[in-house]
Amino acid sequence: MANNTTSRRVFLQAGLLGTATLLGACGKKEEAAAPATAPAASEPTAAASAAPAKVYVVGTDAAYAPFESQNEKGEIVGFDIDVVSAIASKAGVQVKFVNTPWEGIFNAVAQGDRDLLVSAITITDERKQTMDFTAPYFDAVQLIAVKQGSKVTKFADLKPLKVGVQTGTTGDEVVTKLLGKNSAAIKRFESTPLALKELESGGVDAVVADNGVVAHYVTNNSGTGFKTVSDPSFTPEQYGIAVRKGNTAVLEMLNQGLAGIRADGTYDKIYAKYFGSAPAAAGTPASAASK
Ligand code: ARG
Repeated sequence: MANNTTSRRVFLQAGLLGTATLLGACGKKEEAAAPATAPAASEPTAAASAAPAKVYVVGTDAAYAPFESQNEKGEIVGFDIDVVSAIASKAGVQVKFVNTPWEGIFNAVAQGDRDLLVSAITITDERKQTMDFTAPYFDAVQLIAVKQGSKVTKFADLKPLKVGVQTGTTGDEVVTKLLGKNSAAIKRFESTPLALKELESGGVDAVVADNGVVAHYVTNNSGTGFKTVSDPSFTPEQYGIAVRKGNTAVLEMLNQGLAGIRADGTYDKIYAKYFGSAPAAAGTPASAASK
């Protein structure tokens, strides 16, 4: 739907962490990006030494900083991008990231338009029925954003309020549970930044989304006068990389690569780059700190 007004750019990750080679911009919608036709364009690829090897197409909803977003140059960057690039490098394969709206992202992998998805996707029992996930690679929890003067101190305080969420996210799920499926007080947006914009303009009283994204937004948009409210009732979540159900070949490759970058310290380096410190010890969700 809407956020595809700007061109969607396709990148070939040359295998090295953080080196994305711009192949070309295609203004088409995500459906059209499926076959890896980009290299056919006139410009020879920078690192085109290898024969036409399979390039794994990675879907990501790049409006979710610091996990995935587009920089000023339109390149897709972020923690998730670095993690998958490092995994690909470990596995000796190439990946290209394709901006894919959250709304259709699960379908895109189910239909084979994307080989894998990295998009701060929470592993849930429901989603496990329609796709397969790697081992968890990140701990998360829901976090509430409100305006500084707000009286909200806990999740239940949102009951009489208008709440913004990104459609179909775990934030949507928890708020739907609190306010009721048909509640008119839930305002659903196709991206989390749009929901946060609405909080700024007063169209909603609160936004519920993943802690990393809410905290990042509040820190980087101090002018908005937001604050965050955590609540111990939120269930800890874990992100996984998704593949089509039954795609064990890609799943194994990803799991091995993930184990590899955890073992050799690459994961910790990427984590520190985005979150400033080493990840909490296994079994200690990031959420523990805010409880
Ligand atoms: N973790 C949440 C979920 O899986 C939100 C993910 C949204 N990701 C994104 N790139 N927009 O439902």
